[in-house]
Amino acid sequence: MRPRVAITAELPGHAVERLGKSCHVCVNTSGKMSDEDAMIEFIGSAEAVLTLLANPVTDRVLAACPGLQIVGNCAVGFDNIDLEAARRRGVWVTNTPDVLTEATADLTWGLILAVTRRLGEAERFLREGRYQGWALDLLLGSGIQGRQLGLVGFGRIGRAVARRAGGFGMSVAYCDVEELADPDPAATFMPLEDLLSTSHVVSLHTPLSDETRHLLDERRLRLMAPGAFLVNTARGPLVDEAALARVLEDGHLGGAGLDVYEDEPAVHPGLLGREDVGLLPHIGSATVETRAAMADLAAKNILAVLAGEEPPTPVFFNAEAQRRKGAEPSQG
Ligand code: DGY
Repeated sequence: MRPRVAITAELPGHAVERLGKSCHVCVNTSGKMSDEDAMIEFIGSAEAVLTLLANPVTDRVLAACPGLQIVGNCAVGFDNIDLEAARRRGVWVTNTPDVLTEATADLTWGLILAVTRRLGEAERFLREGRYQGWALDLLLGSGIQGRQLGLVGFGRIGRAVARRAGGFGMSVAYCDVEELADPDPAATFMPLEDLLSTSHVVSLHTPLSDETRHLLDERRLRLMAPGAFLVNTARGPLVDEAALARVLEDGHLGGAGLDVYEDEPAVHPGLLGREDVGLLPHIGSATVETRAAMADLAAKNILAVLAGEEPPTPVFFNAEAQRRKGAEPSQG
């Protein structure tokens, strides 16, 4: 019998077609699946599920769907999945790194320029008919040339953001779990609090975990240099949004550019009305090409696992699944 693959949303590109060649595919077309019961009902006895980051894959979901061999997340982040439970149950978890790196780095720069040069505010000004002609002091922003960009997280996306910094004349500092011997591109390692206090723009590129939730709390936000800018294209809960609203209200920071939020799709009301905040609806990887490549990679991961192979981009090495495979009597 063909293995069953549950896909929680319609996908761009040819991923569904690719999966349909060897699997029985069921695509959810009835809107977002953001609660466990809907997930359990939809996955049922499927062997694989292709998920988006709004889909909770909790221990309860995994327990109720014992046929699952793989959760193929169509995202580089995987904070929607209980990794420990998946590992314990021998379920592969895969993500989609690399294919979205450049698109996300581009969008990060879009936000850096938007907040430092007040692009959102300027566009609103013009559309509201307030532009009365060129003036020397109209909507002055903050120059970034010769200043320091501080990257919190120096993985694939952080480094892609750093590669673009030279074009804007910015130096780069980074903090990560460890200092690299020979960072590429060149960047100066700094402990988090030094990076916060010396950077003109701080941009977040670290995964969300119990350790990084509210990494930027009020104390650390206030350590940022007066007039500095915060950009977040990683995960909303890295920042205490209520604290950010207070720190902006005090005038301590120059502004913030956010693509992600603590409680998506909600945005803290203290941020919504502010001119010094640029807000985007989580579109870091949203190009036609990138989204198709993400869906395609998620499909490849699923096909590999269903064929008994190691998937191309696992989040962890699934020792339990490999052990079970080794224990199976050989066919024929
Ligand atoms: C991810 O992949 O984790 C992004 O947040 C969506 O592209």
